Amino acid sequence: MGFVDYEVNGQVGVITINRPKALNALNSEVLDDLNAVFDGVDQNEVRCLVLTGAGDKSFVAGADIGEMSTLTKEEGEAFGKKGNDLFRKIETFPLPVIAAVNGFALGGGNEIAMSCDFRICSDNAVFGQPETGLGITPGFGGTQRLARLVSPGYAKQLIYTARNIKADEAFRIGLVNQVTTQEELLPTCLKLANVIAGNAPIAVRNCKKAVNDGLQVNMDEAIVVEEKLFGDCFESYDQKEGMANFLRKKDDPAKVKHVAFQNK
Ligand code: CAA
Repeated sequence: MGFVDYEVNGQVGVITINRPKALNALNSEVLDDLNAVFDGVDQNEVRCLVLTGAGDKSFVAGADIGEMSTLTKEEGEAFGKKGNDLFRKIETFPLPVIAAVNGFALGGGNEIAMSCDFRICSDNAVFGQPETGLGITPGFGGTQRLARLVSPGYAKQLIYTARNIKADEAFRIGLVNQVTTQEELLPTCLKLANVIAGNAPIAVRNCKKAVNDGLQVNMDEAIVVEEKLFGDCFESYDQKEGMANFLRKKDDPAKVKHVAFQNK
């Protein structure tokens, strides 16, 4: 696929935004390619995704400023929608998506990272929403997701000042879960992805949905969201085998076995 590579290794898929000459900036073509790659993921084969950028300098340096520079009001709104639709697809994608942030994550770069389930970054990563310095607002969800992920006050400060922050500050404010060396970034993310892929896939999907959907409603409704998804698991092979294995273990430790969860 033109600007996006996709590689599957076992049950983990790695999606790489590959436009290093423009620091992986998101133009319409990159957004279309990403959309097509997500649509093409075989959800029976793959259980966890890692999203990263090509090269050792940038994850994604934002939406393409050249493309945006001549947009009209209507075209600007349509471009925002194009990014937002894709990022919402990533956010609600049935499989977990880990952002492996390997450098600049600015504007649309920070926004796509925030649409993933969680972020791990290398020590050269730089995060920020520089849009007010360009005469625009964040347009791919930055005002909404940053305020929810860190705090409204911290998000507003970062957005109004257009100040970039380094990996250590991103970790301190909870924007990323872990900082690694550049060399360790992908291995760390792949290791995590494989741990996730080894757990019951229906349960993992339902957990993602429960957290995402529950955060949109009040607590009374949120616990009902959880109850339904919890109940749903009891129709799965994975629940029956996972619990039977625990009981076998109690009965006779020699009967312990690795449960090969089956996605059904
Ligand atoms: N759009 C288009 N091209 C970009 C780009 C972007 N967002 N970011 C970098 N590039 C291009 C540069 O134009 C340059 O191309 P040429 O070699 O053809 O000149 C190439 O990538 C390398 O960039 P630099 O020479 O600038 O590299 P640097 O190391 O000196 O600086 C940087 C790196 C600090 C990230 C700098 O490139 C930069 O500030 N980029 C813009 C970051 C930004 O403002 N992002 C937000 C965009 S707005 C947005 O995303 C809106 C939204 O919410 C939807």
